[in-house]
Amino acid sequence: MPAATLDITGLTAGYGPTRVIEDLSLSVPKGAKLAVLGRNGVGKTSLFATLAGQTRRFSGDIKLDGKDITALPSALRARAGLGYVPQTRDVFPTLTVEENLFVGLKDRPKAALEEAYNLFPRLKERRRNLGSQLSGGEQQMLSTMRSILGRPSVLLLDEPLEGLAPVICEELMAAFTQLAATGDMTILLVEQRIQTALDFADRAIIMERGRIVWQGLPADLIGNPALIEAHLGLGLH
Ligand SMILES: Nc1ncnc2c1ncn2[C@@H]1O[C@H](COP(=O)(O)OP(=O)(O)O)[C@@H](O)[C@H]1O
Ligand SMILES: [Mg+2]
Repeated sequence: MPAATLDITGLTAGYGPTRVIEDLSLSVPKGAKLAVLGRNGVGKTSLFATLAGQTRRFSGDIKLDGKDITALPSALRARAGLGYVPQTRDVFPTLTVEENLFVGLKDRPKAALEEAYNLFPRLKERRRNLGSQLSGGEQQMLSTMRSILGRPSVLLLDEPLEGLAPVICEELMAAFTQLAATGDMTILLVEQRIQTALDFADRAIIMERGRIVWQGLPADLIGNPALIEAHLGLGLH
């Protein structure tokens, strides 16, 4: 599937009676690499979960390449091209790497599998290992690989580097950059390491309390320490 545009209009969503995403609108062009930034608890994960159809939506709509997917349940959103790699990584510990990859897939897409293994050769070596035997980095690779086997046109990556060693982070970021370079995917990346996210991205948003409070180019954010201080507080490292 080629990369798709993602258009979000007036999205309000949350959990039970609670609204966490507030009237959020965003357009992400085909093939863009968007960094989604913001402090803990501002709603980054909730935004992705809402796009994936896993929260309660109060209003608003979501379009992939102009096609309204708002009414679709999660599985059909995935089939429509939305790939979601959750912050929790979701690897089945008692299944092997390869079994993990094929959960929920009717047929085994051989070509897609080889392509994905090329991106993460480390996983090919470990394909008979159990999920429980993988390092955090390998679990992240597996979780990502499972999502890209569905050949999504928009890929949501939620804090893929969390808790990982620098060398693994570099490996993952190189793989994401390679994925983006194929032009087959629009990528949204949530990441606490601001500099890493901005090195990868070609545009960025900052969220606060369920809303977008700034959007622009990575260079504009890097050149504006006051903005970083105000909304992210951590500074660049
Ligand atoms: N499953 C849930 N049920 C109720 N509230 C939740 C749930 N998940 C997250 N929240 C709340 O939604 C807000 C945003 O959380 P989250 O989307 O995880 O933020 P972030 O990913 O930016 O750290 C927080 O106040 C959090 O407590
Ligand atoms: Mg989160």
